[in-house]
Amino acid sequence: MKTLIIYFSQTGNTRKVAERIRDGVVTETGQCDLTNLADVDTNALADYDLVGLGCPVFYLKAPFNVYEFIEGLPKLRDQQWFVFCTHNTNIGNTLPSMAEHLKKKGIIVIGYHHTYAEPINVPFYPYPALTTGHPDSIDLEEACAFGREIVARSQSIADGDINLIQEPEPVSQEWAREFQKLDLKLLKKVAPRLSINTDKCTHCHACEDNCPVKGIDIEADPPRIQNPCIYCYHCWGVCPTLAIDANWEAWAYFESKSFADQRRELDKAAARGEFRWLIDPDSLNLDEPEPFFKKRERELKGMKPGDF
Ligand SMILES: Cc1cc2nc3c(=O)[nH]c(=O)nc-3n(C[C@H](O)[C@H](O)[C@H](O)COP(=O)(O)O)c2cc1C
Repeated sequence: MKTLIIYFSQTGNTRKVAERIRDGVVTETGQCDLTNLADVDTNALADYDLVGLGCPVFYLKAPFNVYEFIEGLPKLRDQQWFVFCTHNTNIGNTLPSMAEHLKKKGIIVIGYHHTYAEPINVPFYPYPALTTGHPDSIDLEEACAFGREIVARSQSIADGDINLIQEPEPVSQEWAREFQKLDLKLLKKVAPRLSINTDKCTHCHACEDNCPVKGIDIEADPPRIQNPCIYCYHCWGVCPTLAIDANWEAWAYFESKSFADQRRELDKAAARGEFRWLIDPDSLNLDEPEPFFKKRERELKGMKPGDF
Protein backbone atom coordinates (compact mmCIF):
# COMPACT_ATOMS: atom_id res chain seq x y z
CA MET A 1 0.00 0.00 0.00
CA LYS A 2 1.45 3.38 -1.08
CA THR A 3 0.49 6.53 0.84
CA LEU A 4 1.12 10.25 0.31
CA ILE A 5 0.34 13.05 2.77
CA ILE A 6 -0.01 16.60 1.39
CA TYR A 7 -0.08 19.56 3.75
CA PHE A 8 -0.38 23.32 3.60
CA SER A 9 1.05 24.94 6.72
CA GLN A 10 2.22 28.47 7.39
CA THR A 11 3.07 28.58 11.08
CA GLY A 12 3.94 24.87 11.45
CA ASN A 13 0.92 23.45 13.30
CA THR A 14 -0.46 21.46 10.37
CA ARG A 15 3.02 20.32 9.37
CA LYS A 16 3.62 18.89 12.88
CA VAL A 17 0.32 17.01 12.74
CA ALA A 18 1.02 15.80 9.18
CA GLU A 19 4.42 14.45 10.26
CA ARG A 20 2.89 12.44 13.10
CA ILE A 21 0.11 11.04 10.89
CA ARG A 22 2.93 10.05 8.53
CA ASP A 23 4.71 8.29 11.41
CA GLY A 24 1.54 6.33 12.17
CA VAL A 25 1.15 5.25 8.54
CA VAL A 26 4.83 4.23 8.37
CA THR A 27 4.41 2.06 11.50
CA GLU A 28 1.76 0.07 9.64
CA THR A 29 3.05 0.00 6.06
CA GLY A 30 6.75 0.96 6.21
CA GLN A 31 6.19 3.82 3.74
CA CYS A 32 4.55 7.23 3.54
CA ASP A 33 5.59 10.20 1.41
CA LEU A 34 5.05 13.67 2.84
CA THR A 35 4.93 16.82 0.72
CA ASN A 36 4.08 20.46 0.87
CA LEU A 37 1.03 21.47 -1.20
CA ALA A 38 3.19 23.78 -3.36
CA ASP A 39 5.45 20.88 -4.39
CA VAL A 40 2.79 18.33 -5.37
CA ASP A 41 3.14 16.70 -8.78
CA THR A 42 -0.55 16.11 -9.55
CA ASN A 43 0.35 13.77 -12.41
CA ALA A 44 2.01 11.39 -9.95
CA LEU A 45 -1.00 11.15 -7.61
CA ALA A 46 -2.53 8.17 -9.40
CA ASP A 47 0.45 6.06 -8.17
CA TYR A 48 -0.90 6.19 -4.61
CA ASP A 49 -3.48 3.96 -2.91
CA LEU A 50 -4.18 6.48 -0.15
CA VAL A 51 -3.69 10.26 -0.04
CA GLY A 52 -4.07 12.62 2.95
CA LEU A 53 -4.68 16.36 2.58
CA GLY A 54 -4.27 18.70 5.56
CA CYS A 55 -4.45 22.47 6.11
CA PRO A 56 -5.28 25.15 8.66
CA VAL A 57 -8.81 26.51 9.04
CA PHE A 58 -9.10 30.04 7.60
CA TYR A 59 -12.41 31.87 7.94
CA LEU A 60 -14.27 28.70 9.03
CA LYS A 61 -13.21 26.80 5.93
CA ALA A 62 -10.07 25.61 4.15
CA PRO A 63 -7.73 28.29 2.74
CA PHE A 64 -8.67 29.43 -0.78
CA ASN A 65 -5.46 28.04 -2.28
CA VAL A 66 -6.42 24.58 -0.99
CA TYR A 67 -9.77 24.68 -2.82
CA GLU A 68 -7.90 25.89 -5.90
CA PHE A 69 -5.51 22.96 -5.57
CA ILE A 70 -8.45 20.54 -5.41
CA GLU A 71 -10.10 22.21 -8.45
CA GLY A 72 -6.87 21.65 -10.39
CA LEU A 73 -6.67 17.91 -9.65
CA PRO A 74 -7.23 15.42 -12.44
CA LYS A 75 -10.09 12.93 -12.07
CA LEU A 76 -8.91 10.35 -9.52
CA ARG A 77 -11.84 7.98 -9.66
CA ASP A 78 -12.26 5.78 -6.57
CA GLN A 79 -8.93 6.79 -5.05
CA GLN A 80 -9.07 6.85 -1.25
CA TRP A 81 -8.25 10.15 0.51
CA PHE A 82 -8.51 11.44 4.06
CA VAL A 83 -8.58 15.06 5.20
CA PHE A 84 -7.35 16.79 8.33
CA CYS A 85 -6.96 20.31 9.67
CA THR A 86 -5.65 22.37 12.57
CA HIS A 87 -7.65 25.26 13.99
CA ASN A 88 -8.11 27.67 16.85
CA THR A 89 -11.57 27.72 18.47
CA ASN A 90 -13.87 27.08 15.50
CA ILE A 91 -13.41 24.43 12.81
CA GLY A 92 -16.50 25.66 10.91
CA ASN A 93 -17.28 23.76 7.74
CA THR A 94 -13.69 22.94 6.82
CA LEU A 95 -13.63 19.15 6.63
CA PRO A 96 -17.11 18.64 5.07
CA SER A 97 -16.37 21.26 2.41
CA MET A 98 -12.96 19.75 1.56
CA ALA A 99 -14.65 16.36 1.20
CA GLU A 100 -17.38 17.85 -0.99
CA HIS A 101 -14.80 19.34 -3.36
CA LEU A 102 -12.71 16.14 -3.46
CA LYS A 103 -15.74 13.99 -4.21
CA LYS A 104 -16.31 16.02 -7.40
CA LYS A 105 -13.03 14.51 -8.61
CA GLY A 106 -14.33 10.97 -8.12
CA ILE A 107 -12.33 10.62 -4.89
CA ILE A 108 -13.65 8.59 -1.94
CA VAL A 109 -13.00 10.42 1.32
CA ILE A 110 -12.67 7.74 4.00
CA GLY A 111 -11.65 9.62 7.16
CA TYR A 112 -11.31 12.93 9.01
CA HIS A 113 -9.08 14.28 11.74
CA HIS A 114 -8.81 17.68 13.38
CA THR A 115 -6.52 19.19 15.99
CA TYR A 116 -6.80 22.27 18.18
CA ALA A 117 -3.80 24.52 17.60
CA GLU A 118 -2.57 27.82 18.93
CA PRO A 119 -2.77 30.61 16.34
CA ILE A 120 0.63 32.22 15.87
CA ASN A 121 0.93 35.81 14.63
CA VAL A 122 -2.64 36.15 13.36
CA PRO A 123 -2.80 39.97 13.54
CA PHE A 124 -6.47 40.38 14.48
CA TYR A 125 -6.62 37.53 17.05
CA PRO A 126 -6.44 38.11 20.80
CA TYR A 127 -3.15 37.23 22.47
CA PRO A 128 -2.55 34.94 24.36
CA ALA A 129 -4.85 32.58 22.48
CA LEU A 130 -7.36 30.32 24.19
CA THR A 131 -5.76 27.30 22.54
CA THR A 132 -2.25 28.17 23.74
CA GLY A 133 -0.03 25.10 24.03
CA HIS A 134 -1.77 23.03 21.34
CA PRO A 135 -0.87 20.87 19.57
CA ASP A 136 0.90 19.22 22.51
CA SER A 137 2.38 15.73 22.76
CA ILE A 138 -1.07 14.20 23.40
CA ASP A 139 -2.53 15.86 20.27
CA LEU A 140 0.44 14.60 18.26
CA GLU A 141 0.07 11.08 19.69
CA GLU A 142 -3.58 11.18 18.59
CA ALA A 143 -2.46 12.20 15.10
CA CYS A 144 -0.08 9.23 15.03
CA ALA A 145 -2.88 6.89 16.18
CA PHE A 146 -5.11 8.32 13.43
CA GLY A 147 -2.35 7.48 10.91
CA ARG A 148 -2.28 3.85 12.08
CA GLU A 149 -6.06 3.60 12.13
CA ILE A 150 -6.61 5.15 8.67
CA VAL A 151 -4.32 2.53 7.12
CA ALA A 152 -6.35 -0.32 8.63
CA ARG A 153 -9.58 1.35 7.50
CA SER A 154 -8.26 1.93 3.99
CA GLN A 155 -7.24 -1.70 3.63
CA SER A 156 -10.64 -2.97 4.85
CA ILE A 157 -12.48 -0.61 2.46
CA ALA A 158 -10.28 -1.81 -0.42
CA ASP A 159 -11.28 -5.36 0.60
CA GLY A 160 -14.94 -4.39 0.20
CA ASP A 161 -16.05 -3.17 3.64
CA ILE A 162 -17.51 0.11 2.37
CA ASN A 163 -19.43 0.65 5.61
CA LEU A 164 -16.15 1.89 7.06
CA ILE A 165 -16.19 5.01 4.86
CA GLN A 166 -16.62 7.80 7.40
CA GLU A 167 -18.96 10.76 6.92
CA PRO A 168 -17.85 14.20 8.16
CA GLU A 169 -19.40 15.57 11.33
CA PRO A 170 -22.16 18.00 10.34
CA VAL A 171 -21.52 21.68 10.99
CA SER A 172 -23.30 22.70 14.15
CA GLN A 173 -23.73 26.45 13.73
CA GLU A 174 -25.92 28.11 11.13
CA TRP A 175 -23.44 30.98 10.79
CA ALA A 176 -20.57 28.58 10.09
CA ARG A 177 -22.61 27.27 7.15
CA GLU A 178 -23.25 30.87 6.12
CA PHE A 179 -19.49 31.42 6.02
CA GLN A 180 -19.33 28.86 3.21
CA LYS A 181 -20.64 31.62 0.97
CA LEU A 182 -17.60 33.75 1.79
CA ASP A 183 -15.59 33.79 -1.41
CA LEU A 184 -12.52 35.75 -2.41
CA LYS A 185 -14.61 38.46 -4.07
CA LEU A 186 -16.50 39.15 -0.86
CA LEU A 187 -13.39 38.90 1.31
CA LYS A 188 -11.69 41.45 -0.94
CA LYS A 189 -14.48 43.88 -0.06
CA VAL A 190 -14.46 43.36 3.70
CA ALA A 191 -10.95 42.25 4.71
CA PRO A 192 -8.25 44.72 5.83
CA ARG A 193 -6.38 45.97 2.75
CA LEU A 194 -2.62 45.37 2.88
CA SER A 195 0.06 47.79 1.79
CA ILE A 196 3.85 47.87 2.09
CA ASN A 197 5.36 50.72 4.07
CA THR A 198 8.49 51.58 2.08
CA ASP A 199 10.02 53.47 5.02
CA LYS A 200 10.03 50.31 7.12
CA CYS A 201 10.71 47.71 4.37
CA THR A 202 14.29 46.39 4.31
CA HIS A 203 13.76 44.33 1.14
CA CYS A 204 14.48 41.12 3.04
CA HIS A 205 11.96 39.31 0.81
CA ALA A 206 10.46 37.32 3.73
CA CYS A 207 6.92 38.36 2.70
CA GLU A 208 7.48 37.55 -0.96
CA ASP A 209 9.15 34.20 -0.24
CA ASN A 210 6.38 33.16 2.19
CA CYS A 211 3.33 34.27 0.19
CA PRO A 212 1.47 31.04 -0.66
CA VAL A 213 0.09 32.50 -3.90
CA LYS A 214 3.21 34.42 -4.94
CA GLY A 215 1.19 37.64 -4.81
CA ILE A 216 3.91 40.03 -3.61
CA ASP A 217 6.43 41.88 -5.74
CA ILE A 218 8.83 43.60 -3.39
CA GLU A 219 11.15 44.87 -6.13
CA ALA A 220 8.37 46.66 -8.01
CA ASP A 221 8.44 50.43 -7.65
CA PRO A 222 6.61 50.95 -5.34
CA PRO A 223 6.60 47.38 -3.88
CA ARG A 224 3.15 45.90 -4.23
CA ILE A 225 0.78 43.25 -2.97
CA GLN A 226 -1.25 42.25 -5.96
CA ASN A 227 -3.99 39.82 -6.79
CA PRO A 228 -4.30 37.03 -5.98
CA CYS A 229 -4.27 37.58 -2.21
CA ILE A 230 -5.98 34.93 -0.07
CA TYR A 231 -6.04 37.16 3.05
CA CYS A 232 -3.94 34.80 5.16
CA TYR A 233 -1.83 37.78 6.35
CA HIS A 234 1.20 35.53 6.68
CA CYS A 235 3.27 38.32 5.10
CA TRP A 236 2.50 40.46 8.14
CA GLY A 237 3.52 37.60 10.45
CA VAL A 238 6.91 37.01 8.81
CA CYS A 239 7.90 40.65 8.28
CA PRO A 240 10.60 41.46 10.87
CA THR A 241 10.01 45.23 10.68
CA LEU A 242 6.17 45.25 10.51
CA ALA A 243 6.35 46.94 7.11
CA ILE A 244 3.09 45.28 6.05
CA ASP A 245 0.45 47.81 6.98
CA ALA A 246 -3.28 47.35 7.34
CA ASN A 247 -6.07 48.71 9.43
CA TRP A 248 -6.50 45.81 11.84
CA GLU A 249 -8.60 47.65 14.40
CA ALA A 250 -12.06 46.66 13.15
CA TRP A 251 -11.34 42.94 12.82
CA ALA A 252 -9.44 42.83 16.07
CA TYR A 253 -12.42 44.49 17.76
CA PHE A 254 -14.82 41.92 16.25
CA GLU A 255 -12.60 39.03 17.42
CA SER A 256 -12.18 40.48 20.89
CA LYS A 257 -15.98 40.82 21.25
CA SER A 258 -16.43 37.06 20.67
CA PHE A 259 -13.48 36.06 22.92
CA ALA A 260 -15.65 35.32 25.96
CA ASP A 261 -18.11 33.30 23.77
CA GLN A 262 -15.21 31.33 22.34
CA ARG A 263 -14.05 30.54 25.87
CA ARG A 264 -17.55 29.23 26.69
CA GLU A 265 -17.51 27.02 23.55
CA LEU A 266 -14.15 25.60 24.60
CA ASP A 267 -15.46 24.98 28.12
CA LYS A 268 -18.28 22.94 26.57
CA ALA A 269 -15.81 21.09 24.30
CA ALA A 270 -13.67 20.36 27.38
CA ALA A 271 -16.72 18.98 29.22
CA ARG A 272 -17.36 16.66 26.23
CA GLY A 273 -13.72 15.54 26.42
CA GLU A 274 -12.87 17.09 23.02
CA PHE A 275 -10.58 19.83 24.28
CA ARG A 276 -8.01 20.16 27.09
CA TRP A 277 -7.13 23.55 28.60
CA LEU A 278 -3.34 23.98 28.64
CA ILE A 279 -3.55 27.46 30.13
CA ASP A 280 -5.78 28.79 32.88
CA PRO A 281 -8.55 30.60 30.93
CA ASP A 282 -9.36 32.64 34.05
CA SER A 283 -5.94 34.27 33.71
CA LEU A 284 -6.93 35.83 30.36
CA ASN A 285 -8.42 39.26 29.89
CA LEU A 286 -11.61 38.14 28.14
CA ASP A 287 -13.25 41.57 28.04
CA GLU A 288 -10.39 43.53 26.54
CA PRO A 289 -7.76 41.16 25.17
CA GLU A 290 -4.69 42.52 23.45
CA PRO A 291 -4.61 41.61 19.75
CA PHE A 292 -1.50 40.11 18.16
CA PHE A 293 -0.85 43.20 16.04
CA LYS A 294 -0.62 45.39 19.14
CA LYS A 295 1.60 42.86 20.88
CA ARG A 296 4.06 42.83 17.98
CA GLU A 297 4.05 46.64 17.67
CA ARG A 298 4.74 46.87 21.39
CA GLU A 299 7.55 44.30 21.22
CA LEU A 300 9.16 46.07 18.28
CA LYS A 301 9.22 49.28 20.30
CA GLY A 302 10.68 47.41 23.30
CA MET A 303 7.66 48.22 25.49
CA LYS A 304 6.08 46.09 28.21
CA PRO A 305 2.34 45.18 28.49
CA GLY A 306 0.42 48.19 29.79
CA ASP A 307 2.98 50.72 28.47
CA PHE A 308 0.56 51.82 25.73
C1 LIG B 1 -6.39 34.32 8.15
C2 LIG B 1 -6.66 33.30 9.24
C3 LIG B 1 -7.95 32.90 9.49
C4 LIG B 1 -8.20 31.94 10.49
N1 LIG B 1 -9.49 31.54 10.69
C5 LIG B 1 -9.74 30.59 11.65
C6 LIG B 1 -11.08 30.13 11.87
O1 LIG B 1 -12.03 30.53 11.20
N2 LIG B 1 -11.29 29.22 12.86
C7 LIG B 1 -10.26 28.73 13.64
O2 LIG B 1 -10.52 27.93 14.52
N3 LIG B 1 -8.97 29.12 13.41
C8 LIG B 1 -8.70 30.02 12.43
N4 LIG B 1 -7.40 30.43 12.21
C9 LIG B 1 -6.30 29.82 13.01
C10 LIG B 1 -5.56 28.73 12.23
O3 LIG B 1 -6.47 27.78 11.72
C11 LIG B 1 -4.56 28.01 13.13
O4 LIG B 1 -3.68 28.93 13.68
C12 LIG B 1 -3.81 26.91 12.37
O5 LIG B 1 -3.30 25.97 13.29
C13 LIG B 1 -2.64 27.43 11.57
O6 LIG B 1 -2.02 26.34 10.91
P1 LIG B 1 -0.50 26.34 10.42
O7 LIG B 1 0.36 26.59 11.63
O8 LIG B 1 -0.30 24.98 9.87
O9 LIG B 1 -0.36 27.40 9.39
C14 LIG B 1 -7.12 31.38 11.24
C15 LIG B 1 -5.82 31.80 10.96
C16 LIG B 1 -5.58 32.74 9.97
C17 LIG B 1 -4.16 33.14 9.69
